Amino acid sequence: MDSIRVKGNGALRGQIPIAGAKNACLALMPATLLSDEPLTLTNAPRLSDIKTMAQLLGSLGAEVASMQGGQVLALSSHDLSNLTADYDIVRKMRASNLVLGPLLARAGRAVVSLPGGCAIGARPMDIHITGLEALGAEIELKEGYLHAVAPRGLKGAVIEQRFASVGATENVVMAATLAKGTTVLKNAAREPEIVDLVKCLRAMGAEIEGEGTGTITIQGVDRLHGATHAVVTDRIELGTYMIAPAIAGGEVELLGGRRALLASFCDKLEEAGVEIAETDKGLRVSHATGRVAPVNVRTEVFPGFPTDLQAQMMALLCTAHGTSVLEETIFENRFMHAPELVRMGAGIEVHGGHATVRGVEKLKGAPVMATDLRASVSLILAGLAAEGETLVRRVYHLDRGYERLEEKLAAVGAEVERVREE
Ligand code: UD1
Repeated sequence: MDSIRVKGNGALRGQIPIAGAKNACLALMPATLLSDEPLTLTNAPRLSDIKTMAQLLGSLGAEVASMQGGQVLALSSHDLSNLTADYDIVRKMRASNLVLGPLLARAGRAVVSLPGGCAIGARPMDIHITGLEALGAEIELKEGYLHAVAPRGLKGAVIEQRFASVGATENVVMAATLAKGTTVLKNAAREPEIVDLVKCLRAMGAEIEGEGTGTITIQGVDRLHGATHAVVTDRIELGTYMIAPAIAGGEVELLGGRRALLASFCDKLEEAGVEIAETDKGLRVSHATGRVAPVNVRTEVFPGFPTDLQAQMMALLCTAHGTSVLEETIFENRFMHAPELVRMGAGIEVHGGHATVRGVEKLKGAPVMATDLRASVSLILAGLAAEGETLVRRVYHLDRGYERLEEKLAAVGAEVERVREE
């Protein structure tokens, strides 16, 4: 299993291109199941999670061709030969559950294994199930699989989610595009990835309004057609690389970045003393070498501070001149990076959903273990600011969400290399 070796090498300077959003792409790809005409996605990120989704769609009978080095995905679901999403694929990635809504809508039936994915909490699927049941599906859990049928087809309904789940919103919106009549989804997730999915569905002929707000209205249509859609910028990759010059010092321009994707995160970085400017090409982040100010952070659904940037923010606050409190409200077990950061000399105490971070003058390089996708990258960011060498082991999680991370960081002057192990 590969490791990544990082050495603190002073200030970072240059540009980093930001890829298309993993989480948007993972919802856009299953949209192919809704139509028998081709769907082309451009600006796709080159990540192992995308390959996993391609494999899953392939197992259902869809064709997925990867072109231009993986940046263009040509998908076609002319015939669906199988309606079961197998445990062996689903366990690798929770987003596999996004085939449930589209399969039900198109074929009236689906069998989907309950997911695995990052070990950051229980992550049940009750909100997906309640939403799809409201549309007329009958869903039963048998031997680890959800068996869903819609014997009389799906029918529009008014649904109020108990929580604005990203995945449930995506599943219900996709399913409702082909339902009979109107669906009103209340307490819908408002994340930019939802807005991107709706844009694509609309290009495929769906009738949807209200994306980006808490109420999405979908008028069912008889069929969807082919479309070409460019995947939105990855705001989590953007935020991750914004931390790099903040923690190591320097000035980096993030190409394709936009403040609107990450407003509350940008506000917190600025509160910590980091400078952010919008440029013609993206966002420029600068920070003189030196400690940032402590800030308190509470993760929330969009437009709040994203949970997927909590670990990276914690890495930054480890070297602040003072004490910060981070509160995690989205996932119940998402501080697994804390003990690893402590091994690097950080002062962190975790009590339930709160982590108190007492900033230290300097972190110290150490061998550490990556536990989930965003935790892995937080350790690499910490390594950029540490004295000596940090070896992050078990980085397969990283390849799920960051394309060419070593190259991107090396291009701005960081000393980062992959150590390949058999
Ligand atoms: C998506 C993102 C993930 C991000 C998360 C929150 C993708 C592929 N992944 O995950 O990176 O961290 O949004 O922004 O887009 N929940 C339930 N019942 C459900 C569904 C969710 O209790 O039926 C709970 C989960 O356990 C979790 C919280 O709701 O505690 C958030 O989950 P959700 O918004 O659904 O996240 P995902 O779509 O899985």
